Amino acid sequence: MKKFIVKITAAGAILACFAYCTSTKNATGNAATSLKDAYKKDFLIGTALNTQQIEEKDAKAAALIPLQFNAITPENIMKAEIIHPQWDQYNFDLADKIVAYGAKHNIKVNGHTLIWHSQLPQFARRIKDVDSFKTFFTNHINTVAGRYSGKIFSWDVVNEALNEDGTMRKSIFLDKMGDGFVTEAFRLAAIASPNTELYYNDYNNEQPKKREGCLALVKKVQAAGVRIDGVGIQGHWHLGRVPLKDIEESILAYHALGLKVMITELDIEMLPRNFQGADVNQRQASNPALNPYANGIPDSLLQQQATDYANLFKLFLKHKDKITRVTFWGVNDGQSWLNGWPVPGRTNYPLLFDRAFNPKPAYHSVMALKK
Ligand code: G3I
Repeated sequence: MKKFIVKITAAGAILACFAYCTSTKNATGNAATSLKDAYKKDFLIGTALNTQQIEEKDAKAAALIPLQFNAITPENIMKAEIIHPQWDQYNFDLADKIVAYGAKHNIKVNGHTLIWHSQLPQFARRIKDVDSFKTFFTNHINTVAGRYSGKIFSWDVVNEALNEDGTMRKSIFLDKMGDGFVTEAFRLAAIASPNTELYYNDYNNEQPKKREGCLALVKKVQAAGVRIDGVGIQGHWHLGRVPLKDIEESILAYHALGLKVMITELDIEMLPRNFQGADVNQRQASNPALNPYANGIPDSLLQQQATDYANLFKLFLKHKDKITRVTFWGVNDGQSWLNGWPVPGRTNYPLLFDRAFNPKPAYHSVMALKK
C-alpha cells in the first residue's frame, strides 16, 4: 500500500511540474497548461510514439503525452515489416496497444502507414508474379485496416509515392501494379474501414514540383470516384530555412481540392546535412564536424528555432479552417529519429521538449501565440 501511494505521488508530482513549467494564458485569460489546450479550438496537436511510450514504460513520457497531445501516430509499429511479417502472419500486439492507449487517454490515433515502399517485410519484396503481389496488397489492407475499423481516427493510406520532381517513385508497387496502386489502396481502405479518414502523406510535398505531382495524384483518386479525405505534409524542415511561402501555397492548393490538410511529422532540424527531405535510404557518413552540439546547443540557435516554430504556427493559425492536425515527429529531442539519420550517432534538437522533457524556448513561443 505504501509503495502504491509513493508511485501515485511521484506521477502526480511529475504532472504538477509539467503543468507549472508549461503554462501560459489562453484567449479567455485562463491558464492554458498544454499545447492541446491552447490550440483546442484550432486543430489537433499530435506526436509520434515509440514502443517504450506506447507501453508507458517511461514515467515522464507517460505523464507528458496525455497532458500535451490529443493525437498520436505510431512511429514504426504499424508499418508492414512489423505488423505483417509473413504472408499469413500478422503481429498486432503493439498496434492493439496504441489503440488501447488512445481509448484510455481519449487521444485520436492516426494509423501509419498501410502502403509504403520502405520497411516492407522481406517476403513481400521477394514476390515475383503480379497476381501474388496484388493478393498481398489486398490482404494487407483488408486485414490491417479492417481490424482497426471504427477504432482509429485516420490512416496514412499511402506514404511517399512521389519523387522530388513530382513523378511517381520507382517502387515495387509501381513496378507490379502501375500507378493505379494509389487509387486501389484508397478504394480498398475505404471499404475495409468506412468511417476512418484516409490520407496521402509525403515529405517535401510543399515544394512546387512535388506539390504538382501530389495534386495530380489526388485528382486521379478523386476522378475514379474513390474517397480521399486529406493530405499530410510531413514537415521535416531545417533551422532558418522553413519554406513558409511554399507551405502556404500548398495548404491553399490542397484545400482547393476539398481536402483536409495536416502537418504530420513536424520537426526543425538543427544540424547540417547536404540534402533536404526524409528519404530514409539517403545517408551521410559520420564526421565530428557534422555533430557540433554533442555537449549542448547555443541559446542563439534555440531562439532561432523558437522564431521558426512561431512563424510556422502563425501560418497554421491563419489557415486553421483548412488544417485539422499538427503532429510532431517524436516527444522529446532525445527520442527523435534525427539523432540517428542521415548521419548516425548525432545529438539533434528538433522538437519542443528537451531530453529531460523540459519545454524549450520553441514551446514557449508556440504557446505565446495563444496568450
Ligand atoms: O527495431 C529495430 C531494432 O530491433 C534493431 O536493433 C535496431 C538496429 O538498427 O533497429 C530497429 O529498427 C529501427 C526502427 O526505426 C525502430 O527504431 C530501424 O533500424 C530504423 O531504420 C527505423 O527508423 C525509422 C524510419 O522511419 C525508417 O523507417 C524511424 O524510427 C522513423 O522515425 C522513421 O519515420 C519516417 C516515417 O515513417 C515516414 N516519413 C519519414 C519518417 C522519418 O524517416
